Amino acid sequence: MRFYVLTLFPDMVLDGLHTSIIGRALQAGHLSIEAVNIRDYSANKHQKVDDYPYGGGAGMLMQAQPVYDAFRSVTERIGRKPRCIYLTPQGKTFHQGMAKELALEEELIFLCGHYEGIDERVLEEIVTDYVSIGDYVLTGGELPAMVMIDAISRMVPGVLSNEASGSSESFEDCLLEYPQYSRPEEWMGKKVPEILLSGHHKNIEAWRREQSKLRTKERRPDLWEQYLREHPEL
Ligand code: ADE
Repeated sequence: MRFYVLTLFPDMVLDGLHTSIIGRALQAGHLSIEAVNIRDYSANKHQKVDDYPYGGGAGMLMQAQPVYDAFRSVTERIGRKPRCIYLTPQGKTFHQGMAKELALEEELIFLCGHYEGIDERVLEEIVTDYVSIGDYVLTGGELPAMVMIDAISRMVPGVLSNEASGSSESFEDCLLEYPQYSRPEEWMGKKVPEILLSGHHKNIEAWRREQSKLRTKERRPDLWEQYLREHPEL
């Protein structure tokens, strides 16, 4: 998977993602990330990329031309037009299913806005997907792009060393993950549930499934309702 991030803060994106599991996957060549500095495409001698909004109002807007030229620098070089995701609180809310679907793409472009947003005309021209990471407002699209790249990358084959860990986790089949325990067997007077020490794999699997359901019902009643809708036999 190749990611291209159009941003005014390339270091923020690259520094954050060249760490831990995603950093290793980049080194191993399972992923690549290129940050394109929109400021490099300013036609202004002071490298300005923002201006006042027509009609008045608070703050500044990113202008269409540098954003468009940064986008074109990628699409002309690679000879294709990948999906272009604009990070905005006005988008569809990101979720695990979307991460899985996007992981099937070979290339993705992320457009990160700053200030009060971006001139609508360039969005109409280049954006294919409007995505939000939740109902709150951040100062820019970089953190949301990094969140999405992390979640999508985990779904790319080879990125997680343990293939199974991508599927037996929270949100698989609308359920949250079951509780897990490691050594020691007793800590602060709390014992690891007996069944996990039994070595009886079938019973352990059934116990974990039950724990997943209990946990989902208690912590995410909205997800539990969805689970029940998708399993009418229960
Ligand atoms: N930009 C600012 N806030 C955002 C959010 N919640 N999701 C995506 N992009 C954003």
